[in-house]
Amino acid sequence: MSSSISSLKKHFQLDPKFTYLNHGSFGACPYPIFNEREKWQKKIEFQPVSFIQDDAIDSLEKSRKALSSYIHCDKDDVVYFPNPTTAMNMVIRSLDLKAGDEVLSSNHEYGAVERTWKFAASKKGFSYKSIDIPLPFNRQDFLNRLKDNINSKTKIIFLSHITSPTAIIFPIDEVCKLAKELGIMTIIDGAHAPAQIDLNLSTLGADIYTGACHKWMLCPKGVAFLYASKTYQNILEPLVVSWGWESDNPSHSQFLDYHQYQGTNDISTYLTVPKAISFLKEYNWEEVRDYCHEKIIETRNILIETVSSEPICTDEDLGQMTSLKINVDDADQLYRFLKTNNIEIPIFTWNGQNLLRVSFQCYNSMEDISILNKFLSKFLNGN
Ligand SMILES: Cc1ncc(COP(=O)(O)O)c(C=O)c1O
Repeated sequence: MSSSISSLKKHFQLDPKFTYLNHGSFGACPYPIFNEREKWQKKIEFQPVSFIQDDAIDSLEKSRKALSSYIHCDKDDVVYFPNPTTAMNMVIRSLDLKAGDEVLSSNHEYGAVERTWKFAASKKGFSYKSIDIPLPFNRQDFLNRLKDNINSKTKIIFLSHITSPTAIIFPIDEVCKLAKELGIMTIIDGAHAPAQIDLNLSTLGADIYTGACHKWMLCPKGVAFLYASKTYQNILEPLVVSWGWESDNPSHSQFLDYHQYQGTNDISTYLTVPKAISFLKEYNWEEVRDYCHEKIIETRNILIETVSSEPICTDEDLGQMTSLKINVDDADQLYRFLKTNNIEIPIFTWNGQNLLRVSFQCYNSMEDISILNKFLSKFLNGN
């Protein structure tokens, strides 16, 4: 392992007894960024009134500015939410969809957000159409299936940028291009994208995009962003109505007024974003990410032998995670077996099959993969 990358492990607070192979679910936050949160919390508690009444908006603006230059958009086109599900709830509940309208999506979506769509569909009468994208994944076949399902009722295309159960990078740039040509709105769940892949919202062309900062960007838990292009900002209603609605002192942006302040809250996680970005820059994160990408391919090639299956996509469709089909009757029993042996790794039941998802972050090594491989082999083959 490159020594500079292996030295990054010391920054993380993870229980050293565990082989932690699930960065994807909730991330892991290194000390320098975690300490930055504490710094902001202390600042807030030192002068609560001054901070919340006078400084919070400016501090948030500085944070949005750093984020927007990292993801390439206007600083006033992003607001923070505690997590992508909350951000997506705000968006989905705002949409003026009715019986006869269709939202086109896939069967690789994240359960909580899929539930939000189904909840809204059951209330408003529109149809949430989840199209089957089979494995092994093939980009052209995916785009063809999407095109084949678009019709005059299709009002929105909703897709993950990187899928949760299958860990596949969908070709969202091509989806957005196609949707734009057809006048269809795009809503993208990019929870896993920031810092796992390059994210340039100005060239991607999504109308609405949410991303988590507490996953691959390494912030403490509780910070995600919602980007909305200017065309759609005015249709978005506040999830929690607060002082920004019919504001006594409106800013230049209804979008910021409606979504930035939702009552007294601990915004310290939101304010760690500039520190997280400088941490990523300081440690040349493009190199770290490329290294982890190589390692996840190596990992998949090792584990595929043990679980006797085939790759579910090409190397180019992967970032720092990979999912493998695993043939077990009781996925929960395998999960508990691995956990008892101090291995943290998720197993998803997806489309009638079990998928083991491995994440590779800078604190992981091929030694972790050997440990996983040893216990997988023991469970599956008894040796
Ligand atoms: C694709 C995807 N979307 C959204 C989320 C957001 O999850 P939550 O809002 O529950 O933290 C996740 C979390 O893993 C995810 O994988």
